[in-house]
Amino acid sequence: VSKADFIVVANRLPVDLERLDDGTERWKRSPGGLVSALEPFLRSRSGAWVGWPGVPDVEVEPFEDTGVHLHPVPLSAKEVADYYEGFSNGTLWPLYHDVVAPPVYHRHWWEAYVRVNRRFADATAEAAAPGATVWIQDYQLQLVPAMLRERRPDVRIGFFLHIPFPPVELFQQLPWRTEIIRGLLGADLVGFHRPGGAQNFLWLARRLLGLEPSRGAVGVRTRPGVVPNGDRMVRVGAFPISIDSAGLDALAHDPDVQKRAQEIRNELGNPKKIMLGVDRLDYTKGIDVRLHALGEMLAEGRIDPEDVIMVQLATPSRERVEHYQQMRDDIEGLVGRINGQFGKIGHPAVHYLHQSVDRKELVAYFCAADVMVVTPVRDGMNLVCKEYVATRHDLGGALVLSEFAGAAAELTSAFLVNPHDLDGVKNALQAALDVDPAEGRRRMRALRRQVLTHDVDRWARSFLEALGAQEMHNA
Ligand code: G6P
Repeated sequence: VSKADFIVVANRLPVDLERLDDGTERWKRSPGGLVSALEPFLRSRSGAWVGWPGVPDVEVEPFEDTGVHLHPVPLSAKEVADYYEGFSNGTLWPLYHDVVAPPVYHRHWWEAYVRVNRRFADATAEAAAPGATVWIQDYQLQLVPAMLRERRPDVRIGFFLHIPFPPVELFQQLPWRTEIIRGLLGADLVGFHRPGGAQNFLWLARRLLGLEPSRGAVGVRTRPGVVPNGDRMVRVGAFPISIDSAGLDALAHDPDVQKRAQEIRNELGNPKKIMLGVDRLDYTKGIDVRLHALGEMLAEGRIDPEDVIMVQLATPSRERVEHYQQMRDDIEGLVGRINGQFGKIGHPAVHYLHQSVDRKELVAYFCAADVMVVTPVRDGMNLVCKEYVATRHDLGGALVLSEFAGAAAELTSAFLVNPHDLDGVKNALQAALDVDPAEGRRRMRALRRQVLTHDVDRWARSFLEALGAQEMHNA
């Protein structure tokens, strides 16, 4: 296998192996924002991707998928339980999302995390050409930068965190905080979505290295900050991720998609207004928040179930992790209660699908929706809200967006809400449902200006430029 000059390293490959009931296997696109952002970028360049094929106990040889060389890293069932479901999604995920669920600290989970990070670092060391650029992604692989540097001091290493980096006091709960910071400091550039995350990391790194956090130097804003680490400089900065805006805009112009959007409206009985939620089924997404708001608005007669329909698409996610099972029960209970009280035969108030839908179908839903509801209690960026905006070339539709999504800093013309303030959420939903058409168009135009000019390509370019790997981009 030839060595690569540019490598993305992520827990998941951009495609997942799926085992069907009849015993056959097929590849399908992996869930989540990381893959939807990076895949189109990498496909337009020749590069390699190191990642897990998504099911335990399979050994797959490297293969090519639409121009990208895929290097599968195998995980045993025990490693999936301890490294992926355990340390990554039972410890780090809730800790980094402001402990909205209690993080669990188990030493054997940590040991599996170290072992699996080592395997990713080894696979990457094997795949990289001399002087290659390696871009490591997300919270599952925070030890890989230092481990890779040990083996391959010749490569240029970038790291990007796709979820929030928590406040210092929360991060310090972690028994292995020092190891994580040291792992990240193996990179030449460490990137976050928001300046706040970069600042938190800078403070922790400087503390660890015994450097006094000099005033002013920690104010990274958009200029990257710097941590001197031995004979190297580690740069730290904020790089808000985005989407393939032009691709989605083009898809929304497809007559088939527009036809499907009309069909969806018809299938829903042509209500006056359709509200839409699209999320991985995750407790950070605040799906319960919007359902509670809807339930109260129906109960108070503020909205009529004949006029307003809510559609919630929930992509199945991390189904073996306990918090996810609990939350699924809660949400499905809420949907059942709302429909039981306000639905009619053949006319539920909430349509809930626990399924993943393909990209074209998703864009049709976006085009059919009058109000897009995005209410996470904490989210690194949230790409769904940007995707919705990119599809609304008709300047129709309104976006209700949580202040606690990273995207709120850019999408200031949305109806911004505090998801903990239920009355505030209800008022924002009402305002979005009732918005005057001219005002709605004004807001959507402003949102689109931001999303169409700040796409994922620009994000990747600015990160790689800061990493000093711009030659690769031009190649
Ligand atoms: C988020 C994370 C990604 C992750 C995705 C899907 O976007 O930042 O790293 O891949 O969720 O979650 P999963 O656990 O299915 O990979």
